[in-house]
Amino acid sequence: MSEPVKLSIVYYSSTGTIAEIANTLVAEAEAAGAQVRLRKAPELAPDAAIDSNPAWRANLEATSSVPEVTADDVVWADAVIFGSPTRYGNIAAQLKQFIDSLGGEWQQGLLADKIYSGFTSSATQHGGQESTLLALYNTIHHFGGIIVSPGYTDGSKFVDGNPYGTSHVDAQGEIKVGDVTRTAAAVQAKRVVSVAKALKDGAA
Ligand SMILES: Cc1cc2nc3c(=O)[nH]c(=O)nc-3n(C[C@H](O)[C@H](O)[C@H](O)COP(=O)(O)O)c2cc1C
Repeated sequence: MSEPVKLSIVYYSSTGTIAEIANTLVAEAEAAGAQVRLRKAPELAPDAAIDSNPAWRANLEATSSVPEVTADDVVWADAVIFGSPTRYGNIAAQLKQFIDSLGGEWQQGLLADKIYSGFTSSATQHGGQESTLLALYNTIHHFGGIIVSPGYTDGSKFVDGNPYGTSHVDAQGEIKVGDVTRTAAAVQAKRVVSVAKALKDGAA
C-alpha cells in the first residue's frame, strides 16, 4: 500500500475568512486521503491594531489552538497550500515573513520538487485576488516547486471563475464563506492531493 500524501496548509488570516477556507481545505484533503497539517503564520501586528477591529481579535482567539508554522512543516510535506488575504494586491506580510525565513531550506534544496498551490480572499471583486496568487506563485518558481492550480478542470470553476486558486470576496466581512467558495476549495484540495499522489507514487 502506498504512503498517504503529506499536505501542509499554511495560512495567515486577520478576520477569519482565510481561516474558514483553510478548514474546508483540511476536511476535503483528509477526505481525499491526505495526512494534513494545518498551520498559521504568526501574527506580527501590534495589539493596538488588532484591537481596532473586533473581528481581528476574535479570529486570533478562535484560532489560538492552531499551531504556528515552522520550516519543518514545509520540508515534511509533499504538497503545501498557502493562503493569504489580499493586501494591496499582494500576500500579507505575516505570511511573507514566514516565507522569507526559509532561505536556509531553499539553499539546501529542501523546498524543491513539491506541489504548491494557493488561496486568497479580498474585500472587492476586482481587488487583487489574481495578482495576490500570482505574487505567491512567483516565490514558488524560486523554490523549484510545482504549481498545481485548479484551472478550469471542473465544471464548478466556471461558477467561481478563478483558475488561479480558491478565492472569496468578503465585502469587508459582510459575505461569509459559502457553497461556491467551499466547492472551489474541494476541487483544489482534491486536485492537489491527486497530483501529489501521482508524483509521490511515481518517485517511489
Ligand atoms: C491592509 C489591508 C489591505 C487590503 N487590501 C485589499 C485589496 O487590495 N483589495 C481588496 O479587495 N481587499 C483588500 N483588503 C481586504 C482583505 O483582503 C479582505 O477583507 C480579506 O477577505 C480578509 O481576509 P481575512 O478575514 O482572512 O483576514 C485589505 C485589508 C487590509 C487590512
